[in-house]
Formats: sequence, structure tokens, C-alpha cells
Amino acid sequence: MTPEIKTERLLLRSFTPEDAPRLVELVSAWDVARMTSRIPHPYSPELAATWIANHESGRTAGTDYPLAITSGGQIIGCTGLHRAPGKDWGLAGDILEIGYWIGVPYWGRGYASEAAGAMIAWGFGQLNQTVLGAGHFADNPASRRILEKLGFTPAGQRRMTSAARGTDVDCPLLLLTRDTWHAKSGIK
Ligand SMILES: CC(C)(COP(=O)(O)OP(=O)(O)OC[C@H]1O[C@@H](n2cnc3c(N)ncnc32)[C@H](O)[C@@H]1OP(=O)(O)O)[C@@H](O)C(=O)NCCC(=O)NCCS
Repeated sequence: MTPEIKTERLLLRSFTPEDAPRLVELVSAWDVARMTSRIPHPYSPELAATWIANHESGRTAGTDYPLAITSGGQIIGCTGLHRAPGKDWGLAGDILEIGYWIGVPYWGRGYASEAAGAMIAWGFGQLNQTVLGAGHFADNPASRRILEKLGFTPAGQRRMTSAARGTDVDCPLLLLTRDTWHAKSGIK
């Protein structure tokens, strides 16, 4: 399943191998990489190519659903759902966890909130999830604000490795139920 999701200002679509240089350009920023768990710093074209090449198998396995966030035909960021063990959130089984980043030149325009909202709606609607997880590094108040605006509520904390920092970082965890989302967005 390869979704293409339109929002008011954005198109979320699958990455293609041609997107590798733009990906490198955006995630090479320390201020992006250091707030994520899995983006190494420095980043390279080889890492980008491998990451994109693995998307199809991740989608097929139901473990990863990454989408490029585009505006006016240009990639400005990424959002996705990633399967993780639910126990960190106090839940049995697996959970899909939302992630996102926006290229530094595009910060502060509501793009992450808009893209994450669309990804959440897709996870609850098309993937039939009843709950979604999220986490952010403790020193990332902007991400916390986005998650709270979207309706996520606190659900514990874990230590999480940051590939870029090369250390473990405190990572508050949050949950959003489909019922809360539907109540918030007025969907029956
Ligand atoms: C965090 C990030 C995704 C935000 O992207 P963005 O498109 O600028 O986010 P939005 O504009 O949709 O929303 C940001 C919100 O955080 C708020 N915010 C920004 N900096 C803040 C700060 N230092 N403290 C508190 N709130 C802050 C903004 O005011 C906005 O809230 P508002 O809509 O109520 O005004 C972006 O900075 C980024 O990619 N950072 C690096 C990677 C990352 O952190 N990914 C998330 C990992 S959990």
C-alpha cells in the first residue's frame, strides 16, 4: 500500500531514489538530526539511498510507512509511522509510532502539525489502528507542542538512543486514541 495524502498545503508521497540528494541536503542539518533517534550525523548519499531502498519492504512487512512531505513539488520534510513494541507505552503487543521532521528553512509555518495530522488520520483510517504512539526528546518543546495540539496525552518515559548525538536521551512518551482523535476532529 503506497498512500498519497493531500492536505490543505502539502502532498505526502512515497520517496523515490531520485529524492536522495534532497534528503541529504535537509537531514544533514544538525538541528534536524539531533532531535531524531535514527538519523546519523553526518549523513551521506549512501545512507539516503539505502534508507529509500528499504521503504517497500518496510511497508510490505507493516513495520514502516515513511512519506515525503512536499510543498509545491519540493520535499520539505518527512513523516511516517514506525512499528514499535507497545510495552514502553504500557501496552501489550505492537504500536505504530508517529515521527516527523521538517527542513530548517521551513520551520514555524505549521507544516509539521499539518503533515502529522494527515498521517494520524491515515493511520486510524486506512491502517485501522485504535491507538498511536509518539515520543520526543525532552529538550524538544516544539515537538511536544505539536503532539499536544494533535491530542496526544502523556504515557510514560524511556531512554532513547540518538544516532546523531551518540548518547541516550530522556524521551517522554505520549498516546493518542482513535476515539480522542475522532472527537477532536469531529469525525464520527
Ligand atoms: C519540531 C519540528 C518538526 C517542528 O516543525 P514545524 O513545521 O516548525 O512545526 P509547526 O509549525 O507545525 O508547530 C511547531 C509548534 O511548536 C511551537 N514551538 C516552536 N518552538 C518552540 C519552543 N522552543 N518551545 C515551545 N513551543 C515551541 C510553535 O509555536 C508551534 O506551536 P503553535 O502552532 O501553537 O504556535 C521541526 O522543528 C523539526 O523538524 N525539528 C527537528 C526534528 C524533530 O524535532 N523532529 C521531531 C522528533 S520527535
